[in-house]
Amino acid sequence: MERFSLDLPSPLYVFDEIYFSGIVSDLLEKGFSIRPLGVPEFVIDALVACQDTLSKQAYRRGGIGRSEQFQHLEKVRSDEICWIDGSSSEGQLWLDWCEALRLYINRHLFMGLFSFESHFACYAPGNFYRRHLDAFKGESNRMLSVVTYLNDDWQTTDGGELVLYTNEKDDLGVRVLPEKGTIAIFLSEDFPHEVLTAKRERHSVAGWFRLNTSINENIDPPK
Ligand code: OGA
Ligand code: MN
Repeated sequence: MERFSLDLPSPLYVFDEIYFSGIVSDLLEKGFSIRPLGVPEFVIDALVACQDTLSKQAYRRGGIGRSEQFQHLEKVRSDEICWIDGSSSEGQLWLDWCEALRLYINRHLFMGLFSFESHFACYAPGNFYRRHLDAFKGESNRMLSVVTYLNDDWQTTDGGELVLYTNEKDDLGVRVLPEKGTIAIFLSEDFPHEVLTAKRERHSVAGWFRLNTSINENIDPPK
């Protein structure tokens, strides 16, 4: 019998756009979106399965880019990360969902998002990520940050909340419990944020939609 091997791309899922439309209307209205159960359950389950297979050795200390010159890394963040490269079908499903979200956002908000990168993050008890921006105006092509969570039954007493500040002067912020399925999306240059010290192991998945660097250089030349 003859056998075929077709070089097909990963399966094309049809994702429910209801998740995307809520995010887009929030982004239009306020520049950020926080939604409990904002990621479909089967996508979260895939991320949990993928995270479960990662060994401790797969994780590396998170970096901090530009501000590293001014502050010691350990004082800024103490989580460990592992990039999602699509080598497992579970990780790929998350990347596919984010790709569908990217296309939906570009169609509705004309943001010109070009690519996406994402990693798992693990905060051991005692770990944190101090107040920071994911991008500095005109210095990065990170446009939109996305974070989702993989933790069951998270209580306020467990610490580890994401605090999203609505501008540079805001010191109250909006608090987000890192509860399984919640999604937080915000403009990377506009929303300082921090992760409060976690009191139990905390798993999140962070990602960034980027502009094409060459396009970015044209509209936002370095000073
Ligand atoms: C980050 C980050 C937030 C979170 O990785 O840059 O801000 O809630 N993560 O894990
Ligand atoms: Mn961040």
